[in-house]
Amino acid sequence: MSDEDGYFGESVAAHYDESAADRFTPEAVDPAVDLLTELAGTGRALEFGVGTGRIALPLAGRGVPVHGIDMSRAMTSRLSAKPGGDAVGVTIGDFATTRVPGTFTVAYLVFNTINNLTTQDAQVDCFRNAADHLEPGGCFVIEVGVPELRRLPPGQTAVPFRIGPAGWAFDTYDTATQAMSSHYVTLVDGRPEYEYYPFRYVWPSELDLMARLAGLRLRDRWEGWTRKPFTHESGGHVSVWEKPAD
Ligand SMILES: C[S@@+](CC[C@H](N)C(=O)[O-])C[C@H]1O[C@@H](n2cnc3c(N)ncnc32)[C@H](O)[C@@H]1O
Repeated sequence: MSDEDGYFGESVAAHYDESAADRFTPEAVDPAVDLLTELAGTGRALEFGVGTGRIALPLAGRGVPVHGIDMSRAMTSRLSAKPGGDAVGVTIGDFATTRVPGTFTVAYLVFNTINNLTTQDAQVDCFRNAADHLEPGGCFVIEVGVPELRRLPPGQTAVPFRIGPAGWAFDTYDTATQAMSSHYVTLVDGRPEYEYYPFRYVWPSELDLMARLAGLRLRDRWEGWTRKPFTHESGGHVSVWEKPAD
């Protein structure tokens, strides 16, 4: 893996679409693309962490000009090789800080990817960067899970989420820093292989403060792309912050 590709190097990119197959179904993609098409209106869309184009390609297919920022050439080369891939502009860089030319009516960051920024400073920078790219009246959209701390018993720092004959996986939490990590141990020819992905979990209310620091205000929050109400039982949210028009 090239260091510049971060945690999404060749070995992950080669299998990304099949390993996330449930996220590529029309049921998963269409409601997201519906909302982003509405928010884009007659303007342009900017995806942070565009990856292999799961959302960017169908959005471009609706006639919305889409640009993506991603640090992984391994991921974005898959996007560019797909039918319609040449319609999506790509800039290689860190989406917390990388600027691209022009302005956008919607910027979006989906599939928990805000958690890939592992410090609060980087997450704050990401909101500022989104706001800097938006036209007045434009929106920043994030899709992310609600931290699952209710699954963490007192005194315990790890929560298993997959246990089977082929291996096991668990998340670890540091509630002092909001650092979390996913750990995967997979048996390959009977020998364990270990993978580790660091994240920073973040609460909806903390995201709202980051938005305020960036001059954005909350416009909508739903449980997901189908726009069901967000409640105390929601496992995730799709949030929309707006850059004031004046
Ligand atoms: C979980 S994938 C999501 C890809 C795509 N948005 C999707 O929904 O399928 C996360 C993507 O974000 C990229 N990424 C993670 N952190 C990044 C950062 N700080 N700057 C730029 N890209 C980043 C990864 O390279 C990867 O392509």
